[in-house]
Amino acid sequence: MSKKIKRLLSKKGKSKIVSLTAYSKSFAKILDKYCDIILVGDSMANVLYGMKNTHQITLENIIQHSISVREGVKKSLLVVDMPKGSYKNSNQARKNAKLIKKKTKCDAVKIESNNKNFKIIREISKAKIPVMGHIGFTPQFKKKFKIQGGNAKEVKRLIKEAISIQNAGAFSIVLECITPMAAKLITNLLRIPTIGIGSSINCDGQILVTDDMIGLSGFYPKFVKKYINLNTVIEKAVKKYSKEVKNKRFPRGRNFLNGK
Ligand code: KIV
Repeated sequence: MSKKIKRLLSKKGKSKIVSLTAYSKSFAKILDKYCDIILVGDSMANVLYGMKNTHQITLENIIQHSISVREGVKKSLLVVDMPKGSYKNSNQARKNAKLIKKKTKCDAVKIESNNKNFKIIREISKAKIPVMGHIGFTPQFKKKFKIQGGNAKEVKRLIKEAISIQNAGAFSIVLECITPMAAKLITNLLRIPTIGIGSSINCDGQILVTDDMIGLSGFYPKFVKKYINLNTVIEKAVKKYSKEVKNKRFPRGRNFLNGK
């Protein structure tokens, strides 16, 4: 087990784990100072590429963005999402996880659970590539948004799924949009850290899509706290630039090309 993973595991029950998504070096460089985990999420499908879901994003897309993110990450654990269709069976999953690791030098991969693919987690882990699980609302497999774990039967199913993921060798697990009660029970039962998104304070850590929390994505579900509205900030700067170019106030002064 790598030092970074050991350090992350040691945080369980002691200090909260901070995680965010990044798709490029410039963002990753800023996030790296404050995050334990940086995830290159397949959410780039909606956020960057304007797709209606995450299903069309390719392995090549993910790898390309991860190579950029790697350039900005020094200390955080770099986790790369395996896109839909890239882990349909154990052989394909192992092959693609190895490819992702080789090309991006990531620390781990993340795969969404369909409550059946535990063997795949075991296979990737056996190939010495740490795996992060993902349960609850898993956009690669669930068509309609719904908070998960709303009744006793669902909570029981989620607990069973989380334990199976842990037993398959995952080092951590994302809990997406599950009820506070389910998050609490799962977090208390597992020895690996739970990272919540829209799943209450009862998780070992939190993750958000960076573009949502800085007000860039235009997608703000209830659980997102917008820490800044970067859309407005950028628009203000671009408006000023546009005005200055048009009224010849930019560029000004010395001509840098001929030194005069
Ligand atoms: O793709 C992503 O950004 C994710 C997070 C929402 C956990 O999976």
